[in-house]
Amino acid sequence: MLRPLFTRCGGAFGATASQAARPLLSSWQTTQRCYSVKPEAASASQPQDIDPSKLVVKHNSHPGSLKKPEDLIFGRNFTDHMLTIEWNKETGWLAPHIVPYQNLSLDPATCVFHYAFECFEGMKAYKDKAGKIRLFRPDKNMERFNKSAARIALPTFAPTALTELIATFAKLESRFIPDARGYSLYLRPTMIGTQKTLGVGPPGSALLYVIASPVGPYYPTGFKAVSLEATDYAVRAWPGGVGDKKLGANYAPCIVPQREAMSRGFQQNLWLFGDEEYVTEVGTMNFFVAIKNKETGQKELITAPLDGTILEGVTRDSVLALAHEKLAAEGWKIEERKYTMKELDEAANEGRLIEAFGAGTAAIVSPVRAISWRGKLVHCGLKDHEESGELTMRVKGWMEARQYGDDEHEWSYVC
Ligand SMILES: Cc1ncc(COP(=O)(O)O)c(C=O)c1O
Repeated sequence: MLRPLFTRCGGAFGATASQAARPLLSSWQTTQRCYSVKPEAASASQPQDIDPSKLVVKHNSHPGSLKKPEDLIFGRNFTDHMLTIEWNKETGWLAPHIVPYQNLSLDPATCVFHYAFECFEGMKAYKDKAGKIRLFRPDKNMERFNKSAARIALPTFAPTALTELIATFAKLESRFIPDARGYSLYLRPTMIGTQKTLGVGPPGSALLYVIASPVGPYYPTGFKAVSLEATDYAVRAWPGGVGDKKLGANYAPCIVPQREAMSRGFQQNLWLFGDEEYVTEVGTMNFFVAIKNKETGQKELITAPLDGTILEGVTRDSVLALAHEKLAAEGWKIEERKYTMKELDEAANEGRLIEAFGAGTAAIVSPVRAISWRGKLVHCGLKDHEESGELTMRVKGWMEARQYGDDEHEWSYVC
């Protein structure tokens, strides 16, 4: 809906907030116009930010039954409600709602279906020993969500406002989180462009919603090391691209290389980049390697730098911070730098590759046994009977202690 912002020779004229704020006038405006933007109209047209105090809750009158914790499958079961917040370019963010979990009804011409105006987040709510619900570093997810949204012309929002609403939502659904270590509520904030148009342009309306799925431990019976296939025929991300954003459009093209790797007996694919074959990410996780320096023998924990091709993982950032905090004192060097498959192969051949693991919200850490590369297997330091290296296990312990509030820390946000 257009709101009257301009007074034209005594009458009202419809314009959008962005038009009102635009300093340059089109030739049509310069010749035809005989009105001016009223300052009060311009300020009143400031789009609203998300306002948690306007939350409206409609409880589900048919609450679902709880699944047995051991039967939970990642991303298959959902809670009773969803959080929704609509946006349009005239008003900004409308009142947030928590409503019964339900289908969306969208016109087939809605822009999300045609031009992939979609971005999302992945985060978890944990139940601590006292039964309190905790989010883990939600500020990081909100920051990344805003960056992703801005990159595809979707609206941004006040990060603390959405965190507050997600915390309220997670608390409302807390009965779905089993009281056991390893269980949590996976939260999926999602934003889509909802304007009905085939015109390629910034969406004039959007929907932000959050759904929640109770999940169990990634490795219910203890770590299982995975083997990877290095993908050399496709790239996930490239300089100047959007690989560092959490856009749905980044994920569909990754499925075929993943399926190819699986068809040859590997659980995940490893994304390389460039003729140098830089190691970037593993499947949908950041990748860490621990090696001994060739010259000095010093232990080094290495991950690829945030050069625009790497997703800015919350787990990655946390592992790095924990490593600086705990490993540096033990003599480790912690490095964010480019490294190649050749370098890993050389370290493996010389017995200097200590261990390797993926890092992400779903698994926390995922130990890696071997990487298939150029027709051979690069062994990542595990003995045949081992499913995880010592460092990987320590990192998991440190992370869980903060996620579940055993190690009280500012990263943990009590709902
Ligand atoms: C491509 C990619 N890399 C890394 C990660 C890990 O990010 P985070 O630690 O925030 O879960 C994800 C997780 O969703 C991902 O999709």
